[in-house]
Amino acid sequence: MRIGIAGGGGTVGGRVVEAARRRGHEAVILTRGAGVDVRDPAAVRGALDGVDAVVDVLNINTLNTRRATEFFAATTAALLEAGRAAGVGHHVALSIVGVDRAPYGYYAAKLAQERLVESGGVPWSIQRATQFHDFARQMYDGARLGPLHLAPRGRAQPVDVQEVADRLAEVVESGPQGRVTDLAGPREESLVRMVRDYARAQGVRGWIPEVSLPGGLGRAQRDGSLLPGRDAILGRRTFEAWLGELGQH
Ligand SMILES: NC(=O)c1ccc[n+]([C@@H]2O[C@H](COP(=O)([O-])OP(=O)(O)OC[C@H]3O[C@@H](n4cnc5c(N)ncnc54)[C@H](OP(=O)(O)O)[C@@H]3O)[C@@H](O)[C@H]2O)c1
Repeated sequence: MRIGIAGGGGTVGGRVVEAARRRGHEAVILTRGAGVDVRDPAAVRGALDGVDAVVDVLNINTLNTRRATEFFAATTAALLEAGRAAGVGHHVALSIVGVDRAPYGYYAAKLAQERLVESGGVPWSIQRATQFHDFARQMYDGARLGPLHLAPRGRAQPVDVQEVADRLAEVVESGPQGRVTDLAGPREESLVRMVRDYARAQGVRGWIPEVSLPGGLGRAQRDGSLLPGRDAILGRRTFEAWLGELGQH
């Protein structure tokens, strides 16, 4: 299969490219680094020639609702429009477990993206996954008060990014299925512990106070809205194993 991978240079996207190639497919990478700005419909049209399936693992690094919504709306519309024109048979989007239970900020943008895919006229699958293990680093880097790093209270069930990529490759091969079963990590973790353990693994010894992040998203993290349901597919690699290997690099 010839597979267009939008965001194929990113954290999960790079692994989707590898997984696709390992399985004998041809990967066409759509990133600005590879010369394709997916916000530009003409550029996307040129890139999807002869493509059988598209995997959308694009991302914008922001918590701002408007910026995230504009980004996912523009890129998803461009991929779907070009997909219809090129006769793409399957559009696969990666979303996040709980976006409909916590439609705030970035999550609202992801929910709007799902709606576009559902009505976009290209046969589709949506795979939702929980946060990647690397979420601990994002929280450590992002939750700060001056020089102090903070550990937000929350419940998480982080999943290994390689397992997400392998699952996306399976979904592509299985053909359009609509919303597929959610993917999550093997066990629930405390976000506070994840952030502190990540910091310790980086050699940080200072105080990392526990905080409750304000707003709907912080509340959703604490009340378990972002945890998977009982029927979720569970990955095998634990946060602890991920952290152990991180320390060896
Ligand atoms: N992180 C998590 O915990 C998590 C959990 C569940 C689902 N997800 C979802 O997984 C997806 C991927 O996340 P990630 O963390 O792997 O992303 P990432 O590492 O930030 O990578 C983003 C990719 O998008 C590309 N990109 C950004 N803007 C672009 C543009 N205008 N045109 C073309 N390419 C563009 C980037 O390449 P260039 O910069 O070269 O353009 C890069 O390859 C997101 O949709 C996210 O919502 C994430």
